[in-house]
Amino acid sequence: MKKNLGTLRNMRNLGQKITWLTCYDYSFASVLEDTDLDLILVGDSGGMVLLGYSDTSPVSMDEMLFMCKAVRRGAPNKFIVGDMPKGSYEASDLEAVHNAMRFVKEGGCDAIKLEGGSNMAARVKAIVQSGIPVIGHIGLTPQTSAQFGGYRVVGKSESEAKVLLQHAQDLENCGVFAILLEAVPHAVSAELTKNLSTIIFGIGAGPNTHGQLLILHDLIGLYPNFRPKFAKCYVPEVSNFFIDTLKLHKDLVSYGKETRKDGFREIARLAVSKYIDEVREGKFPDLDFSY
Ligand code: KIV
Repeated sequence: MKKNLGTLRNMRNLGQKITWLTCYDYSFASVLEDTDLDLILVGDSGGMVLLGYSDTSPVSMDEMLFMCKAVRRGAPNKFIVGDMPKGSYEASDLEAVHNAMRFVKEGGCDAIKLEGGSNMAARVKAIVQSGIPVIGHIGLTPQTSAQFGGYRVVGKSESEAKVLLQHAQDLENCGVFAILLEAVPHAVSAELTKNLSTIIFGIGAGPNTHGQLLILHDLIGLYPNFRPKFAKCYVPEVSNFFIDTLKLHKDLVSYGKETRKDGFREIARLAVSKYIDEVREGKFPDLDFSY
């Protein structure tokens, strides 16, 4: 069943971990559709892993909508979050609402995510008031990372941790239904998770948040350029299951005729399912994959 704000809030309140992955195209979205994953993020990271930009700055609204439409076609029953790209929301409330609405009406998204905390409070409020659910994204914010000293862990000092809490409180007061913490020390994100009443997701924020996000291309080891410390590739752990699956379909596989179980699609499905299991069981991320 497709998740909604109510079911996600219930999961939070019941202490059930929420699973979230990025996706950018039809075929991978159809893999995710075949799993029990809770949410999909069509992230502007697609600009890097799908389109080959060296960072997310050049990604346009048209490119984001192109990816969102494909993901919606592949995953009709998943809650999809569209990621507002740099330059699509900063200038005015009007522009932010206009572009957020495009994610919903053209891209088929259920919600949007945008980077920024207290500084983006007015934009968040305007989008929420227009009826679109919003996820705030604080900590390491790749779109503005140059301004804050590059890609680095955020919240290590007491003063930075305090600022992070202020950002989170302001976002909560503006009506976000969730906040994503990126690259935040696990002790700081545990404290934030305890003190806020919204849903807290983490990517590189340790094990104590209500939900986890991972970049799909890190999980399946497809992106060639780098993999952050907090990202785990699940392919090694599922390769034996894959070999077992091949044995089940021995006749068809030996002729290369099996269409859905003999190839990379099945490896990806197994890897994603393993991620979901580990998040739900509280095994991922452990401290090895945290700051
Ligand atoms: O675009 C994206 O995938 C993201 C995550 C890195 C948090 O925003």
